[in-house]
Amino acid sequence: RKKVTTQTLRNLYKKGEPIAMITAHDFPSAHAADEAGMDMVLVGDSLGMVAMGLENTTEVTMEEMLLHCRSVARGAKTAFIVGDLPMGSYEVSPEQAVESSIRLVKEGRVHGVKIEGGEELGPTIKRIIQAGIPVVGHVGLTPQRQNALGGFRVQGKTSTSAMKLLRDAMVMQEAGVFMFVLEAMPPEVASLITSKLKVPTIGIGAGNGCSGQVLVQVDMTGNFQPGRFVPKFVRKYADVWGEATRGMVQYREEVKSRAFPSPEYTYPISKEELAKFEK
Ligand code: KIV
Ligand code: NA
Repeated sequence: RKKVTTQTLRNLYKKGEPIAMITAHDFPSAHAADEAGMDMVLVGDSLGMVAMGLENTTEVTMEEMLLHCRSVARGAKTAFIVGDLPMGSYEVSPEQAVESSIRLVKEGRVHGVKIEGGEELGPTIKRIIQAGIPVVGHVGLTPQRQNALGGFRVQGKTSTSAMKLLRDAMVMQEAGVFMFVLEAMPPEVASLITSKLKVPTIGIGAGNGCSGQVLVQVDMTGNFQPGRFVPKFVRKYADVWGEATRGMVQYREEVKSRAFPSPEYTYPISKEELAKFEK
């Protein structure tokens, strides 16, 4: 497969072919995403929850993002890689945002950055793009702002709230973003926003009318303990947790019973050498 570029993504959008995006947080999850033929890999700050055991994304630091981005970049050879700007790395000033974005590209080896927020980010987005870094805007449910949003809540459920989302998207498009993530909003709202924009939208919990979809990899592969909360929009396509724990339980039992390792998992020694050794 050929390396995916912004041009590839624009062509998919123009053809009306949905863009497939998945998150990755380390080398194996990135490698698997690439093998599965994903157009885009997102190093989302959801890695704080899925790879670090945090309660939410607000604690994730630049240093942590950089470590995970580098690991993903080694695993994803063809997909276009986007890295999240973590909370605290871009809000203070456009200068801060440019510096953080440059670090994600230079040290994290991602191809573009994603930024959560709305119209207030116009000047910031312009500055990042002037540095030659493609920007994905993230509107709707923006988890870094959960304290202000009153938790992980669906957005755009009133006409006023939907209008705000559309305005945010229009201003961010004007500032130059090349793509949007639309998170947790009614499908009609996401479809309307998509139809008003000239750049692709990637939906998560935003229905089938977007220009593409994204899911968190460990959610859609079922790589989490039974009973953990997952949002309504997650479809579990596999049962990685079930398969991994099943294997480990069998391994533990076979260790305890000495059934493992049987001879085929050992290294042989010749009878002559053994006899000499045993003397
Ligand atoms: O951090 C993340 O994984 C994300 C996606 C859910 C869009 O931002
Ligand atoms: Na994120």
